[in-house]
Amino acid sequence: MIVGIVGCGAIAHIIAQNIKDEDTSIEIKYFYDKDGERAEDLANFVNGVAVSNFDDMLGKVDLVLEAASQSSVRETALKVLNSGTDIITMSVGALMDTELRNELIQAAKDNDAKIYTPSGALIGVDAIKAASIKNISSISLTTRKSPKSLGRDVDKKEVLFEGKASEAVKEFPKNINVAATLSLASGKDIDVKIIVDPEVSRNVHEVVVKGDFGELKTRTMNFPSDANPKTSMLAALSAIKLLRSFDEHFIIGT
Ligand SMILES: NC(=O)c1ccc[n+]([C@@H]2O[C@H](COP(=O)([O-])OP(=O)(O)OC[C@H]3O[C@@H](n4cnc5c(N)ncnc54)[C@H](O)[C@@H]3O)[C@@H](O)[C@H]2O)c1
Repeated sequence: MIVGIVGCGAIAHIIAQNIKDEDTSIEIKYFYDKDGERAEDLANFVNGVAVSNFDDMLGKVDLVLEAASQSSVRETALKVLNSGTDIITMSVGALMDTELRNELIQAAKDNDAKIYTPSGALIGVDAIKAASIKNISSISLTTRKSPKSLGRDVDKKEVLFEGKASEAVKEFPKNINVAATLSLASGKDIDVKIIVDPEVSRNVHEVVVKGDFGELKTRTMNFPSDANPKTSMLAALSAIKLLRSFDEHFIIGT
């Protein structure tokens, strides 16, 4: 499988580094970034090809892995799907826009392509997908991050946001993809609280779900990535696991 990456930042580096050393049929070959130097650097690292125009990788790849930004999803995803190519989207927040999501799903259907959104920086997505077959009566996320991760200069704990996921992804487009993943997995615009906390050094996500299945509470305490403290290492690992699953014949979890 030939893969092209859009966005050559923290997540793309972790993915490319790991896949490079593996005995796998997955070849991450094409690299695009609006900052051409970043694409060149990562392409050189894995003996890949940097393209200065995104369209140049279309038709040459079996799958595009977007690890850039919500705006890059708007710029590239429809083209990818219309070319009959699958896409993995890390910037899940973009898919909270119902009109865009429906347009992309229709394009995927029309062109026999798939849109994948890995579980990202969060545990428990498989259980929430299963629970959503029956009624989910409430689902909430409380995210705690350090001032560095949230890009705030504060010295005491503060609630920065309380509201619905669809608003959170607009106000914090680089920080709260997990809220979008939870909403899409549960079929609900979930309740979100974002707290900046100088006492935490990890990106902490607490989820509470109640429904016909019973109740679940999860707490994910992620190490931030060195290259980008907004991003958790687990997000990149979840994309690697998804990529590897295309090669596997024994799949665990929903
Ligand atoms: N699903 C999750 O749980 C999860 C977790 C962490 C991060 N993310 C998201 O994944 C994406 C990548 O994260 P990262 O930490 O690697 O970010 P990063 O800032 O380290 O790297 C992003 C790269 O994409 C490039 N880029 C941005 N917009 C672009 C565009 N429109 N076209 C082309 N290139 C563009 C930037 O120049 C940069 O090199 C972000 O949107 C982030 O919010 C998702």
